[in-house]
Amino acid sequence: MITRRYLAAFAAGLALTVSACGGEGAGSGTSGSGGAADGDITVGVAMPTQTSERWIADGNNVKAGLEEAGYEVDLQYANDDIPTQSQQIDQMITKGDDLLIVAAIDGTALSSQLAAAKAAGIPVISYDRLIRGSGDVDFYVSFDNYNVGVQQGTSLLTGLGLLNEDGSPGTATGPFNVELFAGSLDDNNAQFFWNGAMDVIQPFIDSGQVVVQSGQTTIDQAATLRWQQETAQKRMEDLLTSAYNGGGTVDGVLSPYDGISRGIITALQNAGYGSAEKPMPIITGQDAEIASVKLINDGVQYSTIFKDTRKLAEEAVTAAEAMLDGEEPEANDTTTYDNGVKVVPAYLLESQIVTKDNIVETLVDTEYYSQAEVDTGQAG
Ligand code: BGC
Repeated sequence: MITRRYLAAFAAGLALTVSACGGEGAGSGTSGSGGAADGDITVGVAMPTQTSERWIADGNNVKAGLEEAGYEVDLQYANDDIPTQSQQIDQMITKGDDLLIVAAIDGTALSSQLAAAKAAGIPVISYDRLIRGSGDVDFYVSFDNYNVGVQQGTSLLTGLGLLNEDGSPGTATGPFNVELFAGSLDDNNAQFFWNGAMDVIQPFIDSGQVVVQSGQTTIDQAATLRWQQETAQKRMEDLLTSAYNGGGTVDGVLSPYDGISRGIITALQNAGYGSAEKPMPIITGQDAEIASVKLINDGVQYSTIFKDTRKLAEEAVTAAEAMLDGEEPEANDTTTYDNGVKVVPAYLLESQIVTKDNIVETLVDTEYYSQAEVDTGQAG
């Protein structure tokens, strides 16, 4: 990769010393000459979809951070279509992008692209979702995904009153009817979220305080392909007809993502939930999408998990700068993320449970959203 840097500098007719310094300024673009050299370096950024706010924010933040550091950015979205994403990455490699940052749609579908990147000397950072089945992933930036699941499970139980926020037993005893949703099985994160949540919920299923009336308790039964809202709505409608026709009501729903939660909420509202006689169940989520934050503020959804994508983008940019300078990026986890071929060194960030009580503290005070956005449920 250093060679690629030298070549880029030569091509621009710059002195070798400019790109060889590799110290501060060369990567950060803060020195005039370093910035000029960085201008010849292009980072390909492959994002999965624009149908979810978080990926739009991720793409924008990564792009802005890289540009500020002096790099050119080739940002592509793939409409959640696997062949489109493969093609986009193929093109990034043929065009000679110098480093790739990839948030995969299907984490197992990119081995040949990654092999081609490796052969061309292009380092690859796996962004948020681990790329599996390839030895050619150099680094992973994400959140502590198992803990995200623990937080989802915990907030479901605190919402039901089975647990207090400090983890001690709550005043409620149940039994509560709970249905379980998981994410897309081709996304490595889905399993981590599920494992974290189920490690917290399973003891309550075992004690009989949580009852899954549908009997659908495996991740395969609970999965939602591509994390699609409509798919989740359809499954919730089916669960209501098949398992709650005899008069029982749903008290809680484990949902791994805000879009899925909104699908679940629509199905429940269509079935008459959300009134004094038939209150909305405790419903979890993830990503603090603005429409869902409003639903939480309005008492419709119970919780979400806030993952500050600004910080994740910053980590990706820091790792990219290190790698383009020929250095090892700093990892804070070198054991958890085995992708089937290697354990990928990772930098993991922490997430936070958000409920109505702490929206202001977590999202408004940190300027993730303005109060007006929370009130209207619309960004901007
Ligand atoms: C991300 C989540 C997101 C989900 C659906 C996962 O890989 O980690 O933040 O909710 O994809 O987009």
